[in-house]
Amino acid sequence: MNGNLLQNRVAIVTGGGSGIGQAICSAFAQQGATVAVLDVAGDAAQAVAASVDGLAIALDVSDAGACADAVDGVADKLGAPTVLVCSAAYFAGRVPLADLGEDVWEKSLNVNIGGHFNMSKQCIPHMIEAGGGSIVHISSIMAKVANFGQTAYCTTKGALTMLSRGIALDYAKYGIRSNTLMPGGIATKGMADLYGGDMDRAEAEWGAVMHPLGRLGRVEEIADAAVFLASDRSSFITGADLPVEGGYSIR
Ligand SMILES: NC(=O)c1ccc[n+]([C@@H]2O[C@H](COP(=O)([O-])OP(=O)(O)OC[C@H]3O[C@@H](n4cnc5c(N)ncnc54)[C@H](O)[C@@H]3O)[C@@H](O)[C@H]2O)c1
Repeated sequence: MNGNLLQNRVAIVTGGGSGIGQAICSAFAQQGATVAVLDVAGDAAQAVAASVDGLAIALDVSDAGACADAVDGVADKLGAPTVLVCSAAYFAGRVPLADLGEDVWEKSLNVNIGGHFNMSKQCIPHMIEAGGGSIVHISSIMAKVANFGQTAYCTTKGALTMLSRGIALDYAKYGIRSNTLMPGGIATKGMADLYGGDMDRAEAEWGAVMHPLGRLGRVEEIADAAVFLASDRSSFITGADLPVEGGYSIR
């Protein structure tokens, strides 16, 4: 949907090269934002940036120095970033805790929490100088509801609630808002991979068991919610967790 909800905003989207992040880049551009697409997959970032007439930067969000350089680069080339969406995440598959390697645990923390810390830390000074901003942490309904074999992932998503609330509290006086967005099961390549490429089975399982609305969610539905949280349409919402999960957590 075209509009001007993000006119004159510079937005950074991590994990923008694929899936939900890619859909957010498109939706933001359609609402007038200039978008910086950050992803560890440089080619994917380039392709998405080309499609939204934006800027591509290849980086690992768990690398604090790379995040500092990337945000400086965005500010130099595009102007102060006043919207930050952190969508990049590491999902280690389904492994019960006692079988989880220390390396997997550490990578989960470093990417899924550390990446949000690194990017928020670098963007907040620009937002203060610009008079405000909005940070959207892509979390998961797994922040509230555990799932089998996903302790590391669920832990990191749960932590984002308090990371986001801490930012919201400390920086409200500067006009900076911070919220998490909690998707349920979304039809992405990652979801397809979990079901060995059988998307019909994924739709059926999530629709019958997890989502009262009876289907998987679509990346565009997450992007619409991200536009809402990034824009002034949510101007009195901060420190909140927004579920976009087809009713997963009703029961
Ligand atoms: N797909 C779902 O069903 C679902 C459900 C709930 C929450 N989420 C969340 O939504 C977000 C996006 O998920 P998705 O399904 O679109 O995944 P995806 O794998 O399609 O996209 C993630 C992107 O992040 C990038 N990335 C991974 N690690 C990175 C790193 N260290 N530094 C920079 N970039 C990195 C990947 O290259 C990829 O392009 C994640 O935070 C995920 O936890 C997804």
